[in-house]
This record gives sequence, structure tokens and C-alpha cells, in this order.
Amino acid sequence: MNIHIIGGGNLGAAIAKGLAQFTTGNNITVTRRNTHLIESLKGQGINVQANNTAGIEMADLVILAIKPWQTDAVLDEILPHLNGKIIASAVSGVTLQHLNQRAGGSNAIIRIMPNIAVEFGASATCVSALPQDMEKAQPVVALFNQVGTAVIIDEKLMDAATVLGACGTAFALRYIRASMQAGIEIGFDAKTALAIAAQTALGATEMLLKEQAHPEQLIDKVTTPQGCTIVGLNEMEHEGFSSSLIKGIKTSLRKIKEG
Ligand SMILES: NC(=O)c1ccc[n+]([C@@H]2O[C@H](COP(=O)([O-])OP(=O)(O)OC[C@H]3O[C@@H](n4cnc5c(N)ncnc54)[C@H](OP(=O)(O)O)[C@@H]3O)[C@@H](O)[C@H]2O)c1
Repeated sequence: MNIHIIGGGNLGAAIAKGLAQFTTGNNITVTRRNTHLIESLKGQGINVQANNTAGIEMADLVILAIKPWQTDAVLDEILPHLNGKIIASAVSGVTLQHLNQRAGGSNAIIRIMPNIAVEFGASATCVSALPQDMEKAQPVVALFNQVGTAVIIDEKLMDAATVLGACGTAFALRYIRASMQAGIEIGFDAKTALAIAAQTALGATEMLLKEQAHPEQLIDKVTTPQGCTIVGLNEMEHEGFSSSLIKGIKTSLRKIKEG
């Protein structure tokens, strides 16, 4: 596919790098106004340009990775050059109804919500589309399945997907940072503590995904009666571990909905 990514910032550049590294047969172009900031992408075979419309008529898929307030202007700029294309918008909070009204019907606009682990082939991407565009969304789902996982969700859950999947990256990293800090307090140097905490989180995730198990089933395997794991876990729960995570996720969702 010829893929044009408009907005080579944190997410757009991560998508470009992930697609360049983990997929084959795609020609990837990234645009942003300050191209000097993403010159290094050229070394990975990615085209970099400031002009949003140059060559866009050849694109099979256009990905929008710009801020919400930039969306209408960018659509007005590119739409005259597109006909019958798939546009996948990663823009948070801009609805399918708004996007498709703006597009005027000739192009299919769907929404995607990847996270920045897309760069490492490990995004949890959510996709939503209007019923008439579901078939056109399939190649996009297939593409994002090559850089992690991709699932179709109801658009009404897109904000929730943003919190759980995209903000979730920061939540998981904060868990690892806290583990690292505890590791230092119980005797490790910072580098070793981080390496152990990060690999342990990765190992737990691998186990969970490969065994398709409920987390609590796997926790049972680690908790010896009256042992050190269960006392630590219960102390964390007394201090509000699960509760604070749930409250944080709900607060993030409220923030998205309130704008
Ligand atoms: N970061 C994440 O983890 C994440 C995850 C999921 C979804 N999202 C969504 O993805 C979108 C982008 O987020 P981000 O974090 O990547 O923001 P960002 O780092 O600010 O990237 C936005 C990019 O758009 C470029 N841009 C602005 N106007 C443009 C124009 N007219 N033409 C071409 N490029 C233009 C900007 O570069 P120049 O100023 O140089 O043009 C900037 O690099 C947001 O809507 C966000 O909600 C982000």
C-alpha cells in the first residue's frame, strides 16, 4: 500500500517507524511542517515531506495523526486531491459523523486509536467505522494487526479506548517506575531495578496473553499461603492499588468527555 501519514509527531512518526519495520511492501510518506525534526526517518526508507498534498493522489491509505483543532483545515487541504480513498483518523475526540460530513461522502473515513508502542510492533489498536465502511476498514485492521493487535469497536467506546489503550501506556510505565523505586529502596541500583521491573512486567504480560488466562488465575500460581507475595499484594490493596488505578482511568475518561 501507499500510505500517507499526515502529522509526523509522537504518534505519526511512531506509526511510520512501526510500519516500516514490521510490514513489507508498503511505501510510507510522513508529512509535517517542521520536517527537519523527522529527517532521521529517511534512514528507515520513509519519505518525509512538508507538503501534505504532494503525491497524495497515489495514496491507498491516508492516516491523520494531527491534533483535533488541526483536523478540519487539513481535511479541507487534502480532500480535493482524494477520491475513493480510505482515511484513518487517529485524532482523539473527532467523531465519525463530523469526519464523514466534512469529507462529503466520496472517501471512507474511519477512526483508529493506536498507541505509541506501534513503533515496536506492540500497539493495542482500536478501530471504528460507520456500518457502510466496515469492509473498507478491514485492510486497516489487517495492517495494524501487523504492528500489534487491532480490534473493531463501537465508536461510542473510542474515548474509553483512548484512555485504556493510549493513556494506558503512561499508566503501565508509572507502575514500572514505582516498582523500580521500590527496588532501589530494597537494595538494587537504579539500572538493575529498572531492568528487573520492566522485564517482570513484560513476562507477566506474555504469560497472560499466551495462556489467555484471567490475571487472578496466574496470581494464584505466585501466591503461597502465608507467603511474601500475598502479604505484599494485600498491603497494596489496603492502600488502594486497584482502586486508585480504576479512579485514575475514570478521571481520564471524564476529562476527554468534558473536553
Ligand atoms: N501520542 C499518543 O500516544 C497518541 C495515541 C493515540 C492517539 N493520539 C492522537 O494523535 C494525534 C497526534 O498526537 P501526537 O501526540 O502525535 O501529537 P504531536 O506530537 O503534536 O503531533 C502532531 C503533529 O502534527 C503536525 N502538524 C500540525 N499541523 C500540521 C499540518 N497542517 N500538516 C501536517 N502536519 C501538521 C505537527 O508538526 P508540525 O508543527 O511540524 O507541522 C506535529 O508533529 C492527536 O489527535 C492525539 O490525540 C495520540
